Amino acid sequence: MTNREAGWPELGKRPRHVAFVMDGNGRWAARCGLPRLDGHREGIANVERIAAALMARGVEYMTIYMFSTENWKRPQEEVEGIFDLLVGWLRDRVPGLQSAGVSIRHYGQPDRLPAELARALQHAGSTSDGERLVLGLAINYGGRAEIVEAIRDVLSASEADRGIDEQAIAGSLYTAGVQDPDLIVRPGGELRLSNFMLWQAAYAELYFSPVLWPDFDEVELDRALSAYEERSRRFGGL
Ligand code: FPP
Repeated sequence: MTNREAGWPELGKRPRHVAFVMDGNGRWAARCGLPRLDGHREGIANVERIAAALMARGVEYMTIYMFSTENWKRPQEEVEGIFDLLVGWLRDRVPGLQSAGVSIRHYGQPDRLPAELARALQHAGSTSDGERLVLGLAINYGGRAEIVEAIRDVLSASEADRGIDEQAIAGSLYTAGVQDPDLIVRPGGELRLSNFMLWQAAYAELYFSPVLWPDFDEVELDRALSAYEERSRRFGGL
């Protein structure tokens, strides 16, 4: 089947895994004269739109950075509001996504999260067998913390099995079994990774857009995918 027949817009090279930094919800709300939490609500709705668009384009993995280990520094009211939105979304909307073929995975430390959210993430992960898209939710996620945990995990293996190499560390990351992102997209205008997928980003293509996440639609997505298509990935070779 050609890309065109598959409904894939003129793109020859599809990324298998696209990861996004959810950035710009608060500024989007401010521009609309709304409370920040309304921006986060719109941001979460956009996760579904982009997941559907990626599925239509044959992408197999989507990861979304939703709350970092550093985001606890935000006002408590905002943090609690974000967690409430996530619990509601996991309860009300995620089962529909799962029926459409989406598998949910949580990347991050569940321990510090409110019990209700940790349970909802655990439940979504354990009831996931969709085969169209693996949707990774990076919540209470930090790239450095993930690497530290992975090293601890490898070191705790029995003396006989202990061997620290790239494969062992990759196999102990939250993303074990998931291929590294081909493309990392950060909307919202900032040009940094902010502790996102530091290990997995080793050879990812990076794409930055000034568009705020709630406005990052299919047109913007296709811009990012077209930019990816133009890149020459050499992985250190010629
Ligand atoms: C990284 O930039 C961005 C994130 C970790 C996502 C943050 C998004 C939220 C807290 C809103 C999530 C809302 C819902 C409903 C899930 P940063 O702003 O943490 O880091 P920076 O200061 O380096 O830009």
